[in-house]
Amino acid sequence: MPSVLALETSCDESAAALVCRRADGRLEVQSARIASQVEEHARWGGVVPEIASRRHVEALPDLIDQVLSESRAMLEEVDAIAATVAPGLAGALMVASVTGRTLSALHDRPFLAVHHLEGHLASVHLAEHRPQPPYLVLLVSGGHTELIRVAVDGAMKRLGRSHDDAAGEAFDKVARLLGLGYPGGPAIQAAAESGDGRRFKLPKGRISLPEGGFHPYDFSFSGLKTAMLRTVEAQSNPLPTADLAASFEQVVVDVLVDRSLRCAMDHGLEELVMVGGVAANCRLRCTLQKRSDAMGVRVSVAPLAYCTDNAAMIGAAALLRWESGARGCSWRTGVSARWSLAQADRLYNEQPAF
Ligand code: KG4
Ligand code: ZN
Repeated sequence: MPSVLALETSCDESAAALVCRRADGRLEVQSARIASQVEEHARWGGVVPEIASRRHVEALPDLIDQVLSESRAMLEEVDAIAATVAPGLAGALMVASVTGRTLSALHDRPFLAVHHLEGHLASVHLAEHRPQPPYLVLLVSGGHTELIRVAVDGAMKRLGRSHDDAAGEAFDKVARLLGLGYPGGPAIQAAAESGDGRRFKLPKGRISLPEGGFHPYDFSFSGLKTAMLRTVEAQSNPLPTADLAASFEQVVVDVLVDRSLRCAMDHGLEELVMVGGVAANCRLRCTLQKRSDAMGVRVSVAPLAYCTDNAAMIGAAALLRWESGARGCSWRTGVSARWSLAQADRLYNEQPAF
């Protein structure tokens, strides 16, 4: 029963988890712990990198202890120790990376360097229903909005992306505009519950093609953000916050669902997977399910607990690498704030990727 201890500190969540493959073939999270720094960053309206790194240093040792004792495991017994090494805040990434590599060396266990987005993609393998490739993934987080086709052999191809803000970033910025605080996604979702999502007409952000027309699967959220600002400016006090939040949430959901389904249909993909922090959004989960059902497209969404950043998804990605023959990365592997998913294989070369 292969098992991996995984560490994640790429942004503002410190996390550790122990993930293993059960005899019946399912992935099991034996223990997963997260120390969120959200309250601290909320005071500043966003993540302060220096604070994030310091809090990771303080939180991670206890989280590792808790995970090991909860799963009654010893470091000598795990098959590998994994840590997110890219992309993310460099100083924050360093905490899990250095901790993981040190534990690997001390306990003579292989070290697996994990790409954060590969972790998000693997989170769906922790769901009850596991997707069968080929499928299309809608990856929606605070830093990325991408449509990725996963082939039968696991090869990935990006078919769509945002040209400016990621969907989560748009939630965070609009929440700030509406005075709803940080992180914006959950705050907008809560405010939108009692609102009318059709009250304000907002743009669906399209990317023009040089030959005319629009890119069918690419996204743009910066115009929507500006439109929200104009709409807010045109209101008199008190602001109709619930209707504004609901109208914003509705248009983001419509755009994400429309373009994902169109991309899946155009490429003959019968299954749609959704992962990333924004995949925690209720209206998005519900609309995607309904619209996909109507079109005969199967849907797999990451479990709610593993949508926003966590270490279980990093463990799942590491375990999948382990099972496909990866036996460790260089202990000299550093961290990288920017590293594309297409280059994730390079983390497993003998020479460190960075
Ligand atoms: O995946 P994640 O935890 O971190 C990144 O890798 O970026 O995603 C964080 C993003 C934030 O922008 C947050 O506002 C958004 O996910 N988010 C949500 C919800 N929960 C988190 N967006 C919409 N609705 C939610 N319920
Ligand atoms: Zn993430």
